[in-house]
Amino acid sequence: MGFAYRDGAFCVDGVPLESIAQQFGTPCYVYSRAGIEHNFREFSNALAGRDALIAYSVKANSNLAVLALLSGLGAGFDIVSAGELARVQAAGGDPRKVLFSGVGKTASEIRLALQSGVRCLNIESAAEMERVDVVARELGCRAPVAFRVNPDVDAQTHPYISTGLKQNKFGIAYAEAEALHREAALKRNLELVGIGFHIGSQLVDPAPLAAATSRITRLADRLAGSGIAFAHIDVGGGIGIRYHDESPPPIAEFVSAVLREFVGRRETLIIDPGRAIAGDAGILLTRVEYVKPGETRNFLVVDAAMNDLLRPGLYDAWHEVLPVREADAGAAEGTYDVVGPVCESADFLALGRRLDARSGDLLAVMGAGAYGMVMSSNYNSRPRAAEVLVGGGIAHLVRRRESTDELYALETIPK
Ligand code: LLP
Repeated sequence: MGFAYRDGAFCVDGVPLESIAQQFGTPCYVYSRAGIEHNFREFSNALAGRDALIAYSVKANSNLAVLALLSGLGAGFDIVSAGELARVQAAGGDPRKVLFSGVGKTASEIRLALQSGVRCLNIESAAEMERVDVVARELGCRAPVAFRVNPDVDAQTHPYISTGLKQNKFGIAYAEAEALHREAALKRNLELVGIGFHIGSQLVDPAPLAAATSRITRLADRLAGSGIAFAHIDVGGGIGIRYHDESPPPIAEFVSAVLREFVGRRETLIIDPGRAIAGDAGILLTRVEYVKPGETRNFLVVDAAMNDLLRPGLYDAWHEVLPVREADAGAAEGTYDVVGPVCESADFLALGRRLDARSGDLLAVMGAGAYGMVMSSNYNSRPRAAEVLVGGGIAHLVRRRESTDELYALETIPK
């Protein structure tokens, strides 16, 4: 299962990446079906016997083939836009297992979600509560809602992906939660079905997740005193993976830290992992164009760039880079920055790596299955990469490479 060398050739689930590059070109995202299934099962096994829903966070990797695969395994979906809802539906996902999060839902997105019959809208402000109530009244329905409460717990992660602190834009303030719940309970077009939080992403320690769960269950208990009971508690996502030297405990340990706070509770447990399902199940395959020695640093100029994988440039994220043809013992390695063709100094995939590489060699950028393709852009008028899903020994093209005329297909020149 997964990514491994076989007779010196780097393979995904037994299929050589060299042949995938030949068939589909580079840059190219390659996902392992077995890897995604394995990660999903880590969650479902850890939750076995518990009333629970694993709502995969679509933003991590929203390719239809990935969504269809997860839907087939029984996943629900955490979405943040009408676009993600449309993807879930196009992939055959069940809207009744969809949770709609996000601070800025428009009235038309709320309408669409209610008409599609989503399981829950996660409300992130008093103003949004009013808007959902109005839209539901117009539609003549009761909107299933849950407040996303900001537990003010430090997730100890990169500030750009930390979401559960007072200073973050997400969720309603813990101190205001009781009053807002009482207000919502009086609204005829809202039905409080749950409560939730999400403290941030790439957590490497279950402790903050457990602390936030405990704060929310205590809040739920206080609200039960005022006659407000919930069908579910949503603990968000955020479970981290190993990119470099971080060592997050296994998924099961994160889940048991949450389950300890759920002992004796009757609510359905909802968890919305993204990265922990897709992250290590995908790579970005790229080819070296030039070896460029410099005065103070040496560069491998590759055909993938920050527009394909933004994480290094945006968060200084570390992704392992491996040669597709395994280096011989005693190979003449150099130290290189792996950079793309985009005109920005933040256009790097990796810095200061020991590699033995020549022009034409293929490299695999690891851990690119989540927040890779989904964050790509057409910057520098670069067509977006192809996506390939390997399953059962076959490489399926699940998104073809964009063509250059598609880059400006939506544009017009005024007469
Ligand atoms: N639930 C909610 C409400 C979220 O906002 C997120 C992610 C998740 C679940 C899934 O989190 P995960 O399990 O994937 O950590 N672009 C960044 C990550 C942004 C995450 C945003 N929210 C990165 O590349 O690291």
